[in-house]
Amino acid sequence: MKISRTLSFANKLRGEITVPGDKSLSHRALMFNSLAKGKAHIKGLLHSDDTNSTIDCLKKFGVDIQNDSDGSILIFGKGMHSLNEPNDVLDCGNSGTTMRLLSGICAGINGISILTGDDSLRSRPMDRIVDPLTFLGAQIFARNNNSLPPVMIKGGKIIGGQRITPSAASAQVKSAILLAGLYADEEITVVESKTTRDHTEKLLGAMGAKFSIHGNEITLSPPQNELSAIDVTVPGDISTAAVWIVAASIHPDAELTLRNVGINQTRSGLIDILRLMGGDIKLENNRYIGGEPVADLIVRSASLTGVNVSGELIPRAIDELPLVALAGAVAEGETVIQDAQELRVKESDRISTTFKILSDFGVKIEELDDGLHVYGGNPINGAIMNSSGDHRLAMLGAAAGLIADGETTVEDADSVTVSYPTFWEDMEKICQL
Ligand code: S3P
Repeated sequence: MKISRTLSFANKLRGEITVPGDKSLSHRALMFNSLAKGKAHIKGLLHSDDTNSTIDCLKKFGVDIQNDSDGSILIFGKGMHSLNEPNDVLDCGNSGTTMRLLSGICAGINGISILTGDDSLRSRPMDRIVDPLTFLGAQIFARNNNSLPPVMIKGGKIIGGQRITPSAASAQVKSAILLAGLYADEEITVVESKTTRDHTEKLLGAMGAKFSIHGNEITLSPPQNELSAIDVTVPGDISTAAVWIVAASIHPDAELTLRNVGINQTRSGLIDILRLMGGDIKLENNRYIGGEPVADLIVRSASLTGVNVSGELIPRAIDELPLVALAGAVAEGETVIQDAQELRVKESDRISTTFKILSDFGVKIEELDDGLHVYGGNPINGAIMNSSGDHRLAMLGAAAGLIADGETTVEDADSVTVSYPTFWEDMEKICQL
C-alpha cells in the first residue's frame, strides 16, 4: 500500500544526522567481495531496498552473505571463477546499479543469467550495457530490440585488447565494462566523455586489480590471481545528505550537522554548486574511511543567488540536480541546468518529474531537453505532490514542504526506502515547530 505524508513549514531546522551508508559503495562492497576470495566484513552498509536487491541477487550465484552480531555484514567470497550460474532470475528491483554492474559479472561467468526489475527499471535503457558487453564477446538478448529489461546474458568468453567509449558518461556502464574486463584475456580500456564516480576503480584496485588511469582513460589488466576480499567501512552517502544540505541552505533558520559524509571529488558537485550560489557549508573533521574522503558538514541558512550548472559538474552532482532546481527556486535570479539529459533515464524522467513537482509548488520553471530553467525568488506554496515512486523526488517534495507556505502532502512517500529508509524519522528529528 502506498502511503502519503503531510508536513508544513518548519520554524527551525536544527540538529545532527549521521547519514546512512553510501548506496554506490554498498553495492560495490557487496558485489566485489562476492567476486573476491575470502571473508569480508562490511560495516556501515546501507540497508535499503536497493542494496537488499543486490544481496538477494548475489545469493543466487551461490555466495554466502550473513548478518553478523555487531550489525555488520559478512561475505564469504567464492572467487571470480567459482561463482555459480545464477539458480533463478535476478530480480534487481528498482536498482539500475544492481542490474548494470551485475550484467558485467554475468558476461564474465560461464552460464546463463536473466536480469529483471520493477516497472521503473524495466523502462530504463540497457542498450548502453548490452552493446559494449556484446562487443566484448557476451551473447545478450533484451526486450525492445536489445534495449530494455529483462536482459538475458550468456557469458563466459570476454575478448580483451579493446578500447570502449560508452554511449553515456555513466559510472554504471564504466563499471559493467570493467567487471567484464576482469574476465578478459587482455587489457581493456574505457574512455569516458566526462569523469564519473570512481568507486569501482578504487575498490577493485584495493582488492588487487591493476588499473592504469590517464585522465578519462581507464585501463584494466586482467588479474593473474583471484581478487582478495577486503573489509570495508562504508561512509555516509552524499546523495542522501543532499536533501539536508539543500533544506538547510534554503530554510530561513537552519543549522544542521551532517556526520560522516563521503566527499569523493567525483561525487561532491552539490557542495561546489551551492557554494557558487552563496551557500554556507563548512567541512570539519576531514578523514578517510574505507579509502574514501569523508567529513562532517555544517550547513547553515544562506541567501542564495542563481547559477548555471553544466559540463563536468553534471556527473559530479547527477542525483542531486532536482534539489539544485529547488535551491534555484529559492535563490535570487535564474538557475539553469544543462547537459543533464541523463536525468531523463533515472528512476523516473527527472527532468519532467522535477518540472511537474516544482510547478505544483508554484515555482516558475521551464523544462529544457537537457535540463531545467528555474526563475528564483518567488513564493513557494504548499502542494500535493506525487513522488512517481522515485525516492529522490519524495525527498525533494519533503524539502520543499519544509519551506513552503501551507501544507504539503507527499504521495507515495515510502519510496524513500529505496535509499533512505529512516528519512521520515530523521526529518521529524530536525524539525522544530
Ligand atoms: C551510480 C551511478 C549513477 C547514479 C546512480 C548510481 C553508480 O548512474 O545516478 O544513482 O552507483 O554507479 P549512471 O551511471 O547511470 O550515471
